[in-house]
Amino acid sequence: MTERIVLAYSGGLDTSVAIGWIGEATGAEVIAVAVDVGQGGESLETIRQRALGCGAVEAYVADASDEFANEYCMPTLKANGLYQGHYPLVSAISRPVIVKHLVKAAREFGATTVAHGCTGKGNDQVRFEVGIQTLGPDLKCIAPVRDLALTRDKAIAFAEEKGLPIETTKKNPYSIDQNVWGRAVETGYLEDIWNGPTKDIYDYTATPEFPPAPDEVIISFEAGIPVAIDGVKVTPLQAIKELNRRAGAQGVGRIDVVEDRLVGIKSREIYEAPGAMALITAHKHLEDITVEREQARFKATVGQRWSELVYDGQWFSPLKRSLEAFIEDTQKYVSGDIRMTLHGGQAVVNGRRSDTSLYDFNLATYDTGDTFDQSQAKGFIELWGMSAKVASGRDIRVAGK
Ligand code: ARG
Repeated sequence: MTERIVLAYSGGLDTSVAIGWIGEATGAEVIAVAVDVGQGGESLETIRQRALGCGAVEAYVADASDEFANEYCMPTLKANGLYQGHYPLVSAISRPVIVKHLVKAAREFGATTVAHGCTGKGNDQVRFEVGIQTLGPDLKCIAPVRDLALTRDKAIAFAEEKGLPIETTKKNPYSIDQNVWGRAVETGYLEDIWNGPTKDIYDYTATPEFPPAPDEVIISFEAGIPVAIDGVKVTPLQAIKELNRRAGAQGVGRIDVVEDRLVGIKSREIYEAPGAMALITAHKHLEDITVEREQARFKATVGQRWSELVYDGQWFSPLKRSLEAFIEDTQKYVSGDIRMTLHGGQAVVNGRRSDTSLYDFNLATYDTGDTFDQSQAKGFIELWGMSAKVASGRDIRVAGK
């Protein structure tokens, strides 16, 4: 029987050419797998037809946008997942969901190998292949750009020679990856890290310099998950989309960073994640009133480690699962409403209310109604400083000798 290979297919030039390229190089039949993670653009049906037109023997298409929002974006929100404090893990969290569908398709169509369009320099090859190794340990991996010398120029020549139903003339100087959680743009002009991003780079956000009138929004959460916007019930996917629209119109969520790739390269990336950044901001402020101090401090560390694992392609790892058990436990009381103003590139929280809040007005107030016994503070401070005071006494004693 002819060998079969499932290919992660985007519908773009490189993966369209990869279908025939892999076929010629290996003699295998190629099955294209297209997964909708809310990236917008062409319909799955259009993409399926193109895959078949480019020589795929079968096309597997899946609308995974709700799955992606529920099982990938929401855990990221609960963790306040920001790699290096900036990047909301847009591409990093989309790879594992695509991997799930690749493995499913491989089983369905009896494939032995999984192919993807990544280069050998980035994080995504690692995320795909570590994921495949974990979910389908018997499956092999191949990356035509990395392993079969499929360069851009060769791709264009191949498409023209074979008359593939794909545009080869459209010149996009950037490498772009996008889904409902955000958008990542790199390469070209941006590789000089002194160059500021030009306007044409952005798509999810309007320029924050000339914003429309401020937009006030109330986001309601239950156990760390957004459940309503301005009182209207929403699914996680709807919440992200609605905030992409409203926060995007105000230019919220533009990020320009040089980040540390897993492979040891520092690279410049422009992100726009209006919905994700508005949600993370709101969620963090709700945690501020509902999560106990020590839990909250420790959770910040856990969230950072979680983000590193996810960035580094360890989505299916045991440590990530264990950290999630902790994070999940902290979310039990993260319920309530956050009011925020979206304006001029900022999402600023200005009101919060929760039935499970730890904010105690009578403890906090400097006005009448104060129930805090200030006389207790003196003794507390004495003991709190004791250990350092004893040590400093020792330092003085030793220095004096
Ligand atoms: N640097 C980001 C990451 O590794 C995004 C990579 C996405 N690719 C792109 N073509 N911009 O998660």
